[in-house]
Amino acid sequence: MTKVVTTPDELRAARAELTGKVALVPTMGALHDGHMTLVRRAREIADHVIVSIFVNPLQFGPGEDFERYPRDLEADLATLAGAADLVFAPEVADMYPVLPPRVSVTCGEIATLFEGAIRPGHFDGVATVVTKLFTLTAPDVAIFGQKDAQQLFIIRSLVEDLNLPLTLEAVPIARADDGLALSSRNIYLSAEERKAALALSRLVRAAEAAAPNTAAVLRAVADNRADLDWDYTAVLDHRTFAQIDESFSGEALVMIAARVGGTRLLDNTIVHLRAGE
Ligand code: PAJ
Repeated sequence: MTKVVTTPDELRAARAELTGKVALVPTMGALHDGHMTLVRRAREIADHVIVSIFVNPLQFGPGEDFERYPRDLEADLATLAGAADLVFAPEVADMYPVLPPRVSVTCGEIATLFEGAIRPGHFDGVATVVTKLFTLTAPDVAIFGQKDAQQLFIIRSLVEDLNLPLTLEAVPIARADDGLALSSRNIYLSAEERKAALALSRLVRAAEAAAPNTAAVLRAVADNRADLDWDYTAVLDHRTFAQIDESFSGEALVMIAARVGGTRLLDNTIVHLRAGE
């Protein structure tokens, strides 16, 4: 039986009854199979699975899709039946009695690059809500998708830098049969836009095929910038998020974002690189 709670007090009370290892999967709902790979992983590694469903206004900028972001709590609860033990689905006023909050989490420079450059304040909003969710659910482990690579990096930094008492688990990107990374925002795409969107996963595959040669990967990324409206196509040192050049050897993150119609789409892959091979 999946229990559903909506207020922080109810959540704390329900959490207190759980013994053993607890996993948290934070989401904004509109659940798809990408989310469910996180939930299934949670089930594998923990005794109890908590899923939060909350479209967090703090992480949306003015003019972004906060109002039209897909919401279907009933469908989400049906999807989670049996897969989650506890669902936390608060209203905005439950999470933020004072909005904007008087105190919030501010991320460092990393939050101003790439996604952060395009969405100022986005990662501060993410870090603030995730910190609140961690405090309320006191999980042993929290599970995030590699799909949002910069978010994952920032949440790792949050946990390490603030000594938060939990471990993180990352889950690889779940893709549709045609290669498109699953996303709640894919429903915004027309049939034609969806076809155009495949340029993202094509670029990712081209980079993977060019690995492990660093120069070849950089070239593949440059050469595969098909005529999409790219926000960035970055090749980064996965440990630091610094841009790499041809002399780099190690684990690299190819992280890309583009606009297709009015929809922003992200994709990425991790490749092991060797310079000059
Ligand atoms: P949301 O976009 O709903 O994503 C919730 C989690 O699912 C994130 O960790 C995300 O990386 C993961 N996810 C989404 N699509 C995925 C896919 N195709 N494969 C693997 N994992 C995928 O990310 C957020 O919500 C919010 O920023 C949140 C962390 C909940 C804070 O509000």
